[in-house]
Amino acid sequence: MENFDFFNPVKILFGKGKIAELGNHIPKDAKILMTYGGGSIKKNGVYDQVKTALEAYHVTEFGGIEPNPHFETLMKAVEIVRSEKIDFLLAVGGGSVLDGTKFIAAATYYEGEDEWDILAKHAEISKAMDLGAVLTLAATGSEMNSGGVVTKAATKEKMAFGNPLLFPKFSVLDPETTYSLPQRQITNGIVDAFVHVMEQYLTYPVNSPVQDRFAEGILLTLIEEGPKALASATPDYENRANLMWAATMALNGLIGMGVKSDWATHMIGHELTAFHGIDHAVTLAIVLPGLLNQLKEKRGEKLLQYAERVWNITEGSEKKRKNLAIEKTEAFFNQVGIATHLSEYNVGQDSIDVIVKRFEGRGYVGMLPDVEVKDVAEILEARL
Ligand code: NZQ
Ligand code: ZN
Repeated sequence: MENFDFFNPVKILFGKGKIAELGNHIPKDAKILMTYGGGSIKKNGVYDQVKTALEAYHVTEFGGIEPNPHFETLMKAVEIVRSEKIDFLLAVGGGSVLDGTKFIAAATYYEGEDEWDILAKHAEISKAMDLGAVLTLAATGSEMNSGGVVTKAATKEKMAFGNPLLFPKFSVLDPETTYSLPQRQITNGIVDAFVHVMEQYLTYPVNSPVQDRFAEGILLTLIEEGPKALASATPDYENRANLMWAATMALNGLIGMGVKSDWATHMIGHELTAFHGIDHAVTLAIVLPGLLNQLKEKRGEKLLQYAERVWNITEGSEKKRKNLAIEKTEAFFNQVGIATHLSEYNVGQDSIDVIVKRFEGRGYVGMLPDVEVKDVAEILEARL
């Protein structure tokens, strides 16, 4: 196992009715900016629950944070925070609202010329506003990590940022808030969490049985519980609770400690979202089978472990077992409702060429040297 520092200070308030406890976790004299998305929280009762819990507080609202949150929108919130002397941010929504709020927390105190440099140049974040979260969509893990992803609409760039100062102080995870999710977003959550695990697990063995079995446990939970959530006409609390916790555990740092993480699937996927607006999880479901196919020799040992422990594939030649594991992965994405070929989203060779150019300019893909810039074209062309 490799050396690591593990630090995760996020207090998780998990379960039914937990939104009512918000006031126990925010300083009484806080001036709060409550951030949210396009309005789902006003339809499902979450907005009312939050407002009731915060009755004693001074609360300003900032709605309209879009999926794949835009830098341009978030900078409007930064102006409000600065002018109204806000000192606590409460994000209420999915990963986009949480990520966007993390950006607001960092950008408010940024002293450089252009806040976009936080993303484009990984400019140092030396101070950030305290934030908390009420999660309504289990997918990204943003509720228990210190990272985020923001898009500059003007240039179609989607980039990640992160800093330990951006861990939420607390996150409320009430599975009932997910009852109003449309099937498309339930699916996105299952697949995003699945691929988060794969980015940290399906790389190279480093003798990390604890991390591996945690990772396999999360994958198996998603495979068992995901289709149940999609099939049942009325949401089941236990089912939603298990999905929610699985998604949080998939990207709160724990399973990534001491192992080799990749993130190439995410980096390629982000470009598909930036240029074509394809949902984040959908891009991952398109890219991952292509990436695994290309790495079946190099990452063969972990792929065979995954085949056996997650898909129960124990017979046949190594080649056959590896291929079957990749097929089963793609079939799972299809089963939960995602089409996994670029042609199904009207993305063709011309777009691949543009994406490849972006990686050529950047000079790297993920965090491991086994996926090189020259491989991106091949991975995507195999997914046409
Ligand atoms: O905007 P509203 O009206 O709230 O509607 C949202 C949005 O349209 C809706 N929704 C959320 N909760 C709902 C609901 N609808 C009904 N009932 C509810 N309870 O769902 C739609 C999608 O929301 P969004 O927040 O965009 O989805 P998700 O949570 O999947 O977040 C995706 C974003 O997170 C980033 C992605 O790149 C993308 O920008 N990621 C963040 C990561 C992180 N911080 O660690 C890691 C991930 O890999 C990912 O990159
Ligand atoms: Zn993701």
